[in-house]
Order: sequence, then structure tokens, then C-alpha cells
Amino acid sequence: MSMNSLQTPLNTLPSEAFSRAGADSPSAAESLSEAGNTVTTASMPAGPADDLVLEVRHVCGGYKSGGFFGRGGSYKEVIHDVDFVVRHGEILGLVGESGTGKSTLAKMILGLLKPEKGEIIHYTKRPQIIFQDPYSSLNPAYTVEWTVEEPLRVFGKYDAAERKRRVREMLERVDVPEEVFQAKPDELSGGQRQRVSIAAALIRRPRFIIADEPVSALDVTIQAQILKLLKDLRTELDLSYLFISHDLNVVYQLCDRVLVMKQGRIVEQGTVEEVFDHPQQEYTKQLLAAAE
Ligand SMILES: Nc1ncnc2c1ncn2[C@@H]1O[C@H](COP(=O)(O)OP(=O)(O)OP(=O)(O)O)[C@@H](O)[C@H]1O
Ligand SMILES: [Mg+2]
Repeated sequence: MSMNSLQTPLNTLPSEAFSRAGADSPSAAESLSEAGNTVTTASMPAGPADDLVLEVRHVCGGYKSGGFFGRGGSYKEVIHDVDFVVRHGEILGLVGESGTGKSTLAKMILGLLKPEKGEIIHYTKRPQIIFQDPYSSLNPAYTVEWTVEEPLRVFGKYDAAERKRRVREMLERVDVPEEVFQAKPDELSGGQRQRVSIAAALIRRPRFIIADEPVSALDVTIQAQILKLLKDLRTELDLSYLFISHDLNVVYQLCDRVLVMKQGRIVEQGTVEEVFDHPQQEYTKQLLAAAE
């Protein structure tokens, strides 16, 4: 298929669900999850797992509804026996149609939803997420500078002057102009909001980023700029990404490997060339045909 339009953006927000495990502190090796003990961090591994940032091992999970104090109610499994790794420095794509469970899997990796079965092992500091919609991830009441500083305030390690220095350095790095440092989200362009979100996600120097869905509202030029930024940051800050997208063109351009998810199962995975140029599964072929 022809893959030539860059169409993605993303944005971010610090996930406070992880704020207890110090992102840049030695205690980052503690459990990443508040939900349960199936999400663990390993101390820097030796041996075969050396180049991994994440292992997802035979994970099943979903949503519970109804019931009282854990009794009764119903359970709907959304993720079925999902098994993959994220390697150091790679951008791993995750594609599949709407409702297939991509964001649910992201929640599990972030520790916001506990797997029912299987294991999620983190080999890095806690991950951060870049969300689809900067309107939902940026608090409209706060300025750009405040928003990006917030994760550092929560962290509590740096004094006010050092926080400010770090925030300004990060905002400059993601090309947010100084004139808008004191602006609120609704005074920013869509692209600027994305950049602020990225700065907030990166301010505590995570090593693994989950980017959940492009923002289709951004025009193609801005999307291409944001993608380039993410790609550059990968090298500069030694990041690895799980990149969730509907847009197969973007995944083809950006990602090293790709997972294809169908109804909560990974049905195919490989390098983008393997999967997109020589798809083995009928489902992958259908997705590619729909993207033509
Ligand atoms: N909080 C929730 N409670 C119950 N069911 C949910 C909840 N969130 C999602 N689901 C269900 O889980 C399934 C997977 O949803 P999910 O949001 O993970 O899909 P997705 O692949 O991210 O879709 P999209 O591409 O539209 O973002 C869907 O059937 C959805 O209705
Ligand atoms: Mg989703």
C-alpha cells in the first residue's frame, strides 16, 4: 500500500496514578501499580531482558460492573491473552479497529486497570501517556508553565528555581514560544497544546511513552511536526514508545514494529515492512485495504 501521508499528533499528560513511584528516583523500582501486584518493575535487568523496556505476558483483563464491595456484578473480558515486548529505543505501533481494546491495554500498562491474568513487567521508570485530546488532558484553569511544572511539584525533589529552570528548558525543547508560557490552554493553538502536553509528559524524564491515538483534528502539517518532534525526542531522551493509532500511514512511517489487535487479541506482529507489505492474516489485509 502507499504510505505517504503523515497524519498524527498526540499529546500528553502526566499520569498521576503513577506519581507515587518516583520517576527519576531510585525507588522507581517499586511497584508501578496501585491496582495490584501483577504489574511490577524490575530493577535494571541483566541477561536476555537487557534491551527490553516492557514485557506483557499472557495478559487478560477487562471491566467489572455492578456488585457491592467486590461481590456480584459482571465482568467483561476485553483483552485476551495478549503477549508482546517493547524493546529499548523502538517505536512499537498498536493498530486495530475502534473498540478492540487498545486503550484498555494502555490502561493496564499504566497500572490504571489490573490484569485478571498474566503479568506486566516494566524495566524502566514509570511510563507516561500522551493522550489523543489535549483539551481533556490539560486543565483549562492552569497556565502552560504551571501545567508542565505540576509533575515536578508532585515529585517534590527540586526547589522552585530548579523546577522553573527544568520547565523552561523542556518547553523550549518542544518549541513552545516563551510568549505563551503564562497562557491557558484555550489561548493556544492545537499544535501548541500538543507540545505542552508532551512537555508535561516528559518533564520527569520517563523512558517509556504510551501515545494513544493521533488527533485527527490537527491539520496534516502540524501532525507531521509533532511526529517529527516525537521521533527526535526518542533519540535525544532515549525514549521508547508504544504508539497507538488508527492511522496506518502514520504507523508505517513512524514505527519500527507493529502489533495488530483484533477483538482484544494480537493477531499479527512484526516489523512494519513484514506486517504491512506482507500481511499474513486476513484481518490485517482488511485493515490495510480499508486504509488505501
Ligand atoms: N470504562 C469502561 N467500562 C466498561 N467497558 C469499557 C470501558 N472502557 C472501554 N470499555 C469497552 O472495552 C472495549 C475496548 O475499548 P477500548 O477503549 O480499549 O478500545 P480502543 O481499541 O481503544 O478503541 P478506539 O480506537 O475507539 O479508541 C469496548 O468494547 C469498550 O466498550
Ligand atoms: Mg482508544
